[in-house]
Parts: sequence; structure tokens; C-alpha cells
Amino acid sequence: MASPSSSVSSSESSGPSTPRPERKNDVFVRLAQTEDEKYLAQFHSVINKAYRTEGGWTTESHLVQDERISQDGLRELLNDKVNPLLLAFDSNTMEPLGTLQLEPLEHYPSFGEYQGENYSPTYVESHKKEQQIVLGLFSVDPTQQSRGIGRKLVEFALRHAKETMGRKQALVYVIVQRPELIGWYKRLGFTDFGEKLPFPDAFRLLQNDVHFSVLRLEL
Ligand SMILES: CC(C)(COP(=O)(O)OP(=O)(O)OC[C@H]1O[C@@H](n2cnc3c(N)ncnc32)[C@H](O)[C@@H]1OP(=O)(O)O)[C@@H](O)C(=O)NCCC(=O)NCCS
Repeated sequence: MASPSSSVSSSESSGPSTPRPERKNDVFVRLAQTEDEKYLAQFHSVINKAYRTEGGWTTESHLVQDERISQDGLRELLNDKVNPLLLAFDSNTMEPLGTLQLEPLEHYPSFGEYQGENYSPTYVESHKKEQQIVLGLFSVDPTQQSRGIGRKLVEFALRHAKETMGRKQALVYVIVQRPELIGWYKRLGFTDFGEKLPFPDAFRLLQNDVHFSVLRLEL
């Protein structure tokens, strides 16, 4: 597959005067397990700060309001064997740092439900759902971002999806109003092939015309 390179390229929008944070090598990633309930409040905070506050280099807080996930919802995911959740920790302190969920496309809400809204996911539908994995609930604590933790989570996720789950394509759904994030996914090897999907919880949106671009990577 077009495996993401481990080399580090400079950011598109940070100027030469912006100091780069020190890279964090003492981080490990593993699958969530039931015992991780003891970290529930911390991972809940990491996810909701990452998505819905201003602390990191990219956020959706100006586009979407409310929590990204509830504590009860996250507790269920810790035990979800169908849609495995990856967790990143600081190796020295066991501080929770980040999350990423692997969602087999066949368990995702049917794309057919979107057809009435003038979205037509024909390209995704042309491949077997059993071959595709969606990367979701992807978060890194805003105070720890830009240190390679996100890339580490993605690399683990793509390897696990290919080698353990037998997937051939990875998808991410990215809000089109987030060009900096789309740019990063492209640097990781994803391509935008023009497919669009609506944002599912429209009542949470803070502006009009918010929808997803579907990006794709061959594994
Ligand atoms: C997306 C996210 C998980 C990435 O985590 P991270 O730990 O910051 O990721 P990394 O440190 O591995 O990589 C950050 C990249 O952004 C780049 N970057 C840093 N600051 C940037 C900026 N201001 N503008 C553009 N790119 C920037 C870095 O150069 C790096 O790119 P590289 O890998 O090519 O060197 C994290 O930002 C996050 O939690 N965001 C909020 C939730 C979210 O949007 N999730 C994804 C939904 S689709």
C-alpha cells in the first residue's frame, strides 16, 4: 500500500518564525480494552477538547457545537470489538494522549440514506464495503499536537486495518471547510476523489454549507 512515510515535512501554514514543538517519541499506541474504563474521563476530555476547543493546530469548534461524544458513548466504544478503538498513551506517565477508531464500512449507516439530499457516493459504493475501513474519532490532546502522535495513530490504524482486518481501502470524512486538515491527510497519502457527504447532525452546525469530503487511501 501507499504506506505513510515516517519522515517529517514542515507544516503548510506555520511560518519560519513559528517554533516547532519537540517531537514526542515516548508514546505508545494499542487497542482499547475493558480495563481502560479507568481512563474514561481523561480520554473523554482529550476527544472533546481536540474537536471542540481552540487549543490545537486544527479544530472544528468554529463549525460544530456540543460534545463530540458522551462519556457513556465512549464507554461503549472501549468494549466495541466490531469498531476497534486505538488509544495513545505517554509511555512514562501513562497519560492518555489520543484516540482513533476503525469502523468497517459495512457497519456504517447506509450511504443510500443520503441520496435524497443530492449526495451520491457512487465511487465508494463501487467498491465492496467489506474491503473498506473508515478512520473516525481521531483526536490528540491539543497541548500535545504537532509532535507526531497523530501520525503514529494513523500508521498503527492503517497497519491494523490491512493486516488484521483484511481491508484494502481506508476512508476519512473531513469537513470541507478544514483545508489545513485535508492538506495533512494528502501528505499522509490520501486522495480526494470528489465524493461529498452531508454532516449527519445538522442541528449542531454553526454555519451553512458544512459537509464532508471523502478522502481515500489504498492499503
Ligand atoms: C488531527 C489530529 C488528530 C492530528 O494530531 P497531531 O498529533 O497534531 O498530528 P501529528 O503531530 O502527527 O501531525 C501534525 C501535522 O500537522 C502539521 N501542522 C502543524 N501545525 C499546522 C498548522 N498550523 N497548519 C497546517 N499544518 C500544521 C504538522 O507539520 C504535521 O504534519 P507532518 O506530519 O506532515 O509533519 C489533531 O490535530 C486533532 O486532534 N485535531 C482535532 C480533531 C480532528 O480534527 N480530528 C480529525 C477529524 S477528520
